[in-house]
Amino acid sequence: MKRTDYCGNISEKYIGKDVVVQGWVHKSRDIGNLIFLDLRDREGIVQIVFENDFKDFELAKKIRTEFVIEVKGKVRERENKNPELKTGNVEIVAKEVKILNTAEELPFFPSEKKEISEEVRLRYRYIDLRRDKIKNNIALRHKAVLNIRNFLNDNGFYEIETPVLIKSTPEGARDFLVPSRLHPGSFYALPQSPQIYKQILMISGFDRYFQIARCFRDEDLRADRQPEFSQIDIEISFADEEDVIGLSEKMLKSVFKEIGEEIEIPFKRLSYDEAISKYASDKPDLRIKEIVEDFTELFSNSSMNFLRDIISTGGVVKGIKFDNAKGFSRKVIDNINEQMRKMGGKGVFWVRKLEGNLKASLKFHEDELSLFEKKTKIEENQIYLLIAGKLKDIAPQLDYLRRKYGTVGEGFEFVWITDFPLFEEDDEGNITSSHHPFTSPKEEDLDILEKEPLKVKSRAYDIVLNGYEIGGGSIRIHDFNLQQRIFKLLGIGEDEIEKKFGFFIKALKSGTPPHGGIAFGLDRLIMLMTGENSIREVIPFPKTTSGMDLMSETPSPVSKEQLDELKIKVLE
Ligand code: AMO
Repeated sequence: MKRTDYCGNISEKYIGKDVVVQGWVHKSRDIGNLIFLDLRDREGIVQIVFENDFKDFELAKKIRTEFVIEVKGKVRERENKNPELKTGNVEIVAKEVKILNTAEELPFFPSEKKEISEEVRLRYRYIDLRRDKIKNNIALRHKAVLNIRNFLNDNGFYEIETPVLIKSTPEGARDFLVPSRLHPGSFYALPQSPQIYKQILMISGFDRYFQIARCFRDEDLRADRQPEFSQIDIEISFADEEDVIGLSEKMLKSVFKEIGEEIEIPFKRLSYDEAISKYASDKPDLRIKEIVEDFTELFSNSSMNFLRDIISTGGVVKGIKFDNAKGFSRKVIDNINEQMRKMGGKGVFWVRKLEGNLKASLKFHEDELSLFEKKTKIEENQIYLLIAGKLKDIAPQLDYLRRKYGTVGEGFEFVWITDFPLFEEDDEGNITSSHHPFTSPKEEDLDILEKEPLKVKSRAYDIVLNGYEIGGGSIRIHDFNLQQRIFKLLGIGEDEIEKKFGFFIKALKSGTPPHGGIAFGLDRLIMLMTGENSIREVIPFPKTTSGMDLMSETPSPVSKEQLDELKIKVLE
């Protein structure tokens, strides 16, 4: 027997025809003189009937759930139609059956409706991947990647592979290291991104590059982070910001058509400063209508000492208005305060209007409250949650409040964040790159590069969708003198530069065109396209938040011989 059709494709137009289908037994029902099976393959499910005059009825009785079988039979109209099934109007009356393989008792079945713990799903991923939802996510991922490949090909890009065993690339996370057997004591790093290689490809004249690139970062994991993930990595020569942004928008428009979404381009843009001031985040979810308002000036002469103190030492007071003051019971506020303390804050104070009365959680002077009322025009059943402190410290807390208690609208809200600061200051007061050290500063800020580095803006842009950073890129430095100045500012000495990126600096001096690019987080993009909350739902074999592959129980110890060969000793 040779398969003639996928189970999921059998329709009314097959009625009266003989077909051969192969697949897994999704469900079976034996009612004595009749056996019904739901047979499943990649494309869907079809009902098979064994009638009691079927020649191998005894064999059919032995078939269990998740057995792999092959059936030849005639398609007929179904008496009891099943509107929930694509093939629900027809069934196949078996003429021949062959059991191709059996299946042991499984920890769960693809047909089960009940919730299965993620741990079990990941441990038995081969069964999990048989389930519709996750299978459809993987299918969409394929279609999206194909769409992107075709789009980029149509726009003159070459897909070029870059190595996975490389010298460390500075993207800011920790590297995964791979020991070299042939050079004991030396290590490769797995790429955090193909950044340096794609820039070298521009230096080599490839003009337009892309790659669906696997990247590796040893960082703390979350729902939208994996230690290995995929980027749609792009680089363009002789390009400025508008070229990269314009191309990216068209690419996203093209790929969203795969899910029937007509997205509008161009997208909104916000400068980093605007994003922080209005949304307290550089990845704002613009579906949420609440915004952050500033009350620093209003409270600068506050009757509350602590507010005056915070403001006079460079702090700010920011607040968010919510329309359901009644929802913020004492218990909810207690929970919020606990959460704020967990985030290193001191808690919130509030002002609300209920039954015509304006009330605050602090004993403000009456004039101050009236001024607040006048300024905000606060209405019945509205509440302001307010936080005072250094903007840098309280921004994540305000962002949390907005995301947790805000009103989330529908759809896909894209926004570009531009004009990032080129540098950040770490907790020890050292200057670090906000993105990576190859990001170009804005030309107009070159004069203050050494004098006021923290004021320098970069030619970087991030793209945010529904509150997730789905991509980021920049116009690069193509002048090696400028690159040297940046390294110097970052406190990377001559020796270290030579050791870490000597080859790259040399390449920069060999005739580098102006260039820039972007990388999209493919997993995050597909997560949002499929409406999932975790990228693990769109990655066939993901790792847990502790970096484990539960199915293969990796990472795992290796043999002493392997370690000896690599001249590696594991400390207890
Ligand atoms: P960046 O570090 O911003 O830029 O990464 C680009 C995009 O990759 C996604 N991403 C991740 N997705 C899943 N798990 C992770 N651990 C993870 N880390 C990042 C995000 C992010 O926006 N070389 C530069 C790009 C460039 O400048 O062209 C880079 O890697 O969606």
